[in-house]
Amino acid sequence: VSSYPSHISLLPSIQQCNLTNLPENYFLKYYLYHALTWPQLSFVAVVRTAKPTAYPKVVGYVLAKMEEDPADGIQHGHITSLSVMRTHRRLGIAEKLMRNSQRAMAEVFNADYVSLHVRMSNKAALHLYKDTLGFTVEKTEAKYYADGEDAYAMKMDLKNMQ
Ligand code: ACO
Repeated sequence: VSSYPSHISLLPSIQQCNLTNLPENYFLKYYLYHALTWPQLSFVAVVRTAKPTAYPKVVGYVLAKMEEDPADGIQHGHITSLSVMRTHRRLGIAEKLMRNSQRAMAEVFNADYVSLHVRMSNKAALHLYKDTLGFTVEKTEAKYYADGEDAYAMKMDLKNMQ
């Protein structure tokens, strides 16, 4: 398993991975918009197939962007979506994808911080963001998700990576 910047041809497989793992889904053109606008920020984890000509299988991705019109006026990145296929969890893939994206936000776009939303019930993701990566909860957003669940709005400082 390795991670490298996402390639346009992998976007349908990334979309499929998202559909399998999360209820928050997006049109293919939104993945394309991320890849064309901030190609440095999104990453995939793939397993190479035995056949050299076949497409590698996507087992995880992070879809990330720069906030285009930040309310606080501060240049910052945002994690749109992150997921890893069940078969490949607990191997450190999500952590690696997140660290790659965060580094690129700071180095390429001079991001001061990175933000994201996560369901309050999502124990695995909360552990990853808080304990492994060092995000903090900025605020809670009531009924953020379509099914009525509340979200934590989280952020992490990137100034020491710029
Ligand atoms: N319970 C508790 N802690 C967990 C769990 C779990 N089920 N899964 C991972 N962690 C912890 C690990 O222990 C690890 O910490 P540590 O090794 O420092 O102790 C840390 O999280 C990172 O583990 P990884 O192996 O890198 O995480 P993984 O590759 O398994 O992916 C993820 C984690 C993305 C949350 C995965 O479980 C998943 O795809 N879940 C479904 C989709 C999802 O919830 N995505 C996040 C939504 S929020 C958003 O997109 C902005």
